[in-house]
Amino acid sequence: MRTQVAIIGAGPAGLLLGQLLTRHGIDNVILELRSADYVLGRVRAGVVEKGTADMLDEAGVGARMHSEGLVHDGVELAFGGQRHRISFRDLIGKAVIVYGQTEITRDLMEGRAAAGATTVYEAEDVSLHDIESDRPKVRYRHKGVEQELDCDFIAGCDGYHGISRRSIPDTVLRTYERVYPFGWLGILVDRPPVSEELIYANHERGFALCSMRSPTRSRLYIQCSLEDRVEDWSDERFYEELKRRLDDEAARRLEPGQSFEKSIAPLRSFVAEPLRHGRLFLAGDAAHIVPPTGAKGLNLAASDVFYLWQALLDFYKRGSSQGIDAYSGRALARVWKAERFSWWMTSMLHRFPESSGFDRKIQQAELDYLRSSQAAQISFAENYVGLPY
Ligand code: FAD
Ligand code: PHB
Repeated sequence: MRTQVAIIGAGPAGLLLGQLLTRHGIDNVILELRSADYVLGRVRAGVVEKGTADMLDEAGVGARMHSEGLVHDGVELAFGGQRHRISFRDLIGKAVIVYGQTEITRDLMEGRAAAGATTVYEAEDVSLHDIESDRPKVRYRHKGVEQELDCDFIAGCDGYHGISRRSIPDTVLRTYERVYPFGWLGILVDRPPVSEELIYANHERGFALCSMRSPTRSRLYIQCSLEDRVEDWSDERFYEELKRRLDDEAARRLEPGQSFEKSIAPLRSFVAEPLRHGRLFLAGDAAHIVPPTGAKGLNLAASDVFYLWQALLDFYKRGSSQGIDAYSGRALARVWKAERFSWWMTSMLHRFPESSGFDRKIQQAELDYLRSSQAAQISFAENYVGLPY
């Protein structure tokens, strides 16, 4: 088989890149390790930046997001028993859309099927070859048969555990990492959200987040220990703990219901550099991870794809390698700012097991500054809704 761009991974990064390339007449094939149902079964992000929404429109798959997604003009921060609203609309005239990653993935998969582009699901043992040459290839096994895909470029969109990043020699790749000493325990439940907007809570018992997927479906999180197992947390125990971390009104409005998804995610900051080696590009979680506190993971995948798509358009439509050469630097400049914001929000809102009295006082001062300073709120708002591309 031969294509112009071989894309590894059918998460949001791979599917979005594929859709944008297909719409501009650039042939591409996606190789995905899992089945389509498995990919759709993963519950992940929920907040969509304006830039990401624009990309989904550009890819021709934004209609359902605009009709079913919830436009949020602000968020609430809860600490010291009170809630404080930060209005993006009033501060910077912008908003975000609450629309689940699962739905975005479904829309992209449907768009891809309608465009007739090829996706190979359950592609096993994917390996990358000759990435330093002009004729790279990808080998894999499908339904027991060995296959080879020749291409011009490979886009490594295969997430943190994928093979693309590991195909770059150790002598070239640099990595930067911070692992946090806690996780998030999250549930999905068919009960109305506690409040109209997201509530991010700092409490001495630990962080909590009340998010949502629709007017009838809540996505709720509490900070937990890395030793905790999902089985340790009955729904009853989860709601008891969440209530303690919220202000009185929010705790009263919390309607317990039977959860239908419950999982623990560890928190990590990670960046690999550079994002290009020869004819291989990394995009999304394959290249970087952020803790979910800033809601940046999915949105960073989209901004990487923006720069990569522009670079490939430059190459195929204008015969220029300039975009390709600039890709890593352009994408990383934005990645590091989102890493900073996610790290900062995580530091401000969580209870760190080793924290000293001094650390906790600094955390309180940070929250109080954000509550009382319009300058600080503008900075928060512009980062939360997403820095420009
Ligand atoms: P992925 O979505 O990881 O997609 C990569 C794809 O590549 C997968 O489909 C995978 O099966 C496939 N793949 C892997 N290895 C191979 C291989 N060898 N060959 C072929 N295919 C392969 N972000 C937020 O903003 N908020 C959240 O609440 C949030 N929660 C999260 C919870 C979890 C458990 C995880 C893991 C992430 C979460 N994120 C969250 C981050 C966000 O979901 C990711 O940033 C986003 O999915 C990145 O998209 P991606 O396409 O780069 O990677
Ligand atoms: C979510 O709804 O899953 C969500 C929202 C905001 C975050 C993280 C996760 O910061």
